[in-house]
Amino acid sequence: GDPVAAHTVERSGARGYFVEKRIITDPKGLAVGLKHFNVITPENVMKWEEIHPEPGVYDFEAADRLVELAQAHGKKVVAHTLVWHAQTPDWVFEDEEGNELSREALLERMRDHIHTIVGRYKGKIFGYDVVNEAFNRDGSFRESKWFNIIGEDFIQKAFEFAHEADPNAQLYYNDYHMEDPEKRQGIHEYLEEMIEAGVPISGVGSQSHFSINNLPPLDQIEKSITEFADLGIDVMITELDLNVLPASVYQYDEDDKERDIYREGLPDSVQQKLTDVYTDLFEIYLKHSDILTRVTLWGVSDDGSWLNYLPFEQTNYPLLFDRNKEPKPALHALIRLADRN
Ligand code: G3I
Repeated sequence: GDPVAAHTVERSGARGYFVEKRIITDPKGLAVGLKHFNVITPENVMKWEEIHPEPGVYDFEAADRLVELAQAHGKKVVAHTLVWHAQTPDWVFEDEEGNELSREALLERMRDHIHTIVGRYKGKIFGYDVVNEAFNRDGSFRESKWFNIIGEDFIQKAFEFAHEADPNAQLYYNDYHMEDPEKRQGIHEYLEEMIEAGVPISGVGSQSHFSINNLPPLDQIEKSITEFADLGIDVMITELDLNVLPASVYQYDEDDKERDIYREGLPDSVQQKLTDVYTDLFEIYLKHSDILTRVTLWGVSDDGSWLNYLPFEQTNYPLLFDRNKEPKPALHALIRLADRN
């Protein structure tokens, strides 16, 4: 058969996708990604430390290849991410003597970074995760260098700079734990103020790195879609994957080989649970396909997932394609679900 994630999501008016560095050198993975998904997101290669590693030094090679690949195959690119507290070198926040930058100097540096990247890909990149993960779980601002030096308006400035550089690009705010009412409310309030002030924001992304053993309540997942939609901007699921490992494996120490509990394969019962949880989630996504504009999986096949590595090596099964790039039972179930909708 030809079961396809893109088919599933297209039926709902939403768009699926993939990418990571290594898939481009992995012909089978690349073919599966191109066949089944219609939007590509770079998992790492557009993060500050990779694309702008030293002052005045940009490395566009991987991003250029990704954009060319997307164009050659008629795929959209949603880039990740312009402003984040992580994967950003320390020099960004310091002058040549190592002193912390002033607000004005850091804003100028942010502007230069955003203008250089968004300007380079003007008309070629569909949308950007402009700011990533700026809030704490209780809804307050995260104490990042961006926040501490610039203040609350660092988010809105980033959107303004991106809009200057490409007025047609879609501009998104992206974060996790959107299922948590407190965090959601804090972000909702800030975005509402931004929108009222006329800041150019097109949408909000909910990362959705979930675990099959500890899923947030489904009604809260649903609210994370509907409550943001009332802002009149796009709502997207941006980094969906489902960790299958029980929390207990994360308590084992570094050298304990037994912690890699599914090294020999996934037990049928866990495979079934993975299918069930993906189905529960897509029932919600399909129900709200009028307001949900994209569902992005954080990778194509299990071998490529970050969940095999962090915080240590372990065999995980979070995605819709297995290590042989074959569709998993979860994908077949989603296609049946989409066909019924
Ligand atoms: O591939 C190597 C592996 O060969 C090596 O054995 C291992 C040892 O640590 O490292 C592996 O690379 C790691 C890679 O993840 C694996 O996917 C890198 O060290 C690590 O830096 C990299 O982390 C990335 C992480 O962001 C930090 O930038 C992940 O790829 C990426 O999936 C993750 O993505 C983030 C989003 O940007 C923001 N939202 C959360 C999401 C998940 O953490």
